Amino acid sequence: MVYLRLFTVLVLAMASMASALRLPPGVEEPSRLIRPFDTSNYGKFQLNNGLALTPQMGWNSWNFFACNINETLIRETADALVSTGLAELGYNYVNIDDCWSNMKRDDEGQLQPDSKNFPSGIKALADYVHKKGLYLGIYSDAGVFTCQVRPGSLYHESDDAKLFASWGVDYLKYDNCFNLGIKPIERYPPMRDALNATGRKIFYSLCEWGVDDPALWAGNVGNSWRTTDDISDTWESMTTIADLNDKWASYAGPGGWNDPDMLEVGNGGMTYAEYRSHFSIWALMKAPLLLGCDVRNMTSQTFEILSNKEVIAVNQDPLGVQGRKIYAEGTNNCSQVWAGLLSGKKVAVVLWNRCSKVVNISADLGLLGLDKSAQHTVRDLWSHTTLSENVVGSLTAQVKVHDCKMYILTPTSSVYTS
Ligand SMILES: *[C@@H]1O[C@H](CO)[C@@H](O)[C@H](O)[C@H]1NC(C)=O
Ligand SMILES: *[C@@H]1O[C@H](CO)[C@@H](O)[C@H](O)[C@H]1NC(C)=O
Ligand SMILES: *[C@@H]1O[C@H](CO)[C@@H](O)[C@H](O)[C@H]1NC(C)=O
Ligand SMILES: *[C@@H]1O[C@H](CO)[C@@H](O)[C@H](O)[C@H]1NC(C)=O
Ligand SMILES: *[C@@H]1O[C@H](CO)[C@@H](O)[C@H](O)[C@H]1NC(C)=O
Repeated sequence: MVYLRLFTVLVLAMASMASALRLPPGVEEPSRLIRPFDTSNYGKFQLNNGLALTPQMGWNSWNFFACNINETLIRETADALVSTGLAELGYNYVNIDDCWSNMKRDDEGQLQPDSKNFPSGIKALADYVHKKGLYLGIYSDAGVFTCQVRPGSLYHESDDAKLFASWGVDYLKYDNCFNLGIKPIERYPPMRDALNATGRKIFYSLCEWGVDDPALWAGNVGNSWRTTDDISDTWESMTTIADLNDKWASYAGPGGWNDPDMLEVGNGGMTYAEYRSHFSIWALMKAPLLLGCDVRNMTSQTFEILSNKEVIAVNQDPLGVQGRKIYAEGTNNCSQVWAGLLSGKKVAVVLWNRCSKVVNISADLGLLGLDKSAQHTVRDLWSHTTLSENVVGSLTAQVKVHDCKMYILTPTSSVYTS
């Protein structure tokens, strides 16, 4: 109870500092012209460990490999991130998920790596990925066991954080299994404090599956927080999660992001169009871009999606405003217009066909909060072309089944000088 009261005081103190939020250098305040982007909670609570000024990018072992992991796989993945050029595009965290540790703590009560699959230990892996200019992530659980029943970190926060820091770990994903029914708001802050006490900058990724509306409290606890249950490699799962994550848009900002879970692009359960939509919407929502496929063995289509620099740039835009569903039209809301404000008064727009018939989708620039009478240049982020004609009033395109179009609209300067 005492702890909770202290926490409340801290939250209130942070809230009163909200108006003092500093945007990253060179970034303007969100434009008043652009109303649909609710930024009322933008950056309100920040963990303030200097990390996550833009959403994290990298790879995580779970979606493709689950428990079938070992140090060779992690090294080969780091090698592949570099050799494919993905590391250079920003995918720089190499994150080991569950199953890296032994079934038991050692005699001193410390976590230990699984001796069969990680015989060289985690420090050796951290050294390996650091030499390549990458960061190493690890996984634990805010409960007595991990989801795969390895030892959890609940009540061992300080020991485990020190151990991770001593290995050179840069990122912790912190899961929610075997949690003894204690509320996340009580179980997640102790690890924040333990990580902070190590003095090492460790990205803190909360994974309490959105059960306790983490956007409302996690901003000063972690650098990102899962908003939903686990994703699976299907269109239904991906679209459901996108809609659920959208609800929390106003809480994301530099330092702390909503996390609709890792990417499934390249894992085989969706079509090319569906994966392209998955990647576009995740980028627009300022979701972490954590690859979940076998990057040692990607098809050219998978690589083409994941390496789209222009879409990545939307995700990594320094303003850090999460794009949202602006409106949906047609039978079953088939025609959807999603958009997000970018730095430089630009707006990213996704026209998303959620149904099984080709549709023409029209974005009303007025409903996006833009000046309907103004000229806007239009960059198509998937064809990598700038449309030959500027648009005024609305932007319309034909969109294939489950596919999307993604654009950046840039108002011509005259709009803002009048
Ligand atoms: C390491 O894991 C990968 C991926 O599951 C697997 O293909 C490989 O056989 C494993 N290697 C060893 C030495 O266990
Ligand atoms: C620890 O927390 C303080 C206070 O928020 C912050 O200024 C500092 O940067 C943090 N240090 C690390 C290593 O996260
Ligand atoms: C590479 O991926 C293809 C499917 O895209 C699969 O058939 C093949 O077995 C994979 N190769 C390896 C070495 O995993
Ligand atoms: C369409 O979306 C609106 C909100 O955007 C929602 O209230 C309504 O239930 C949706 N309709 C269907 C059929 O999904
Ligand atoms: C979409 O618009 C194109 C012209 O751009 C038109 O040829 C086509 O018939 C329209 N399709 C639908 C489904 O309205």
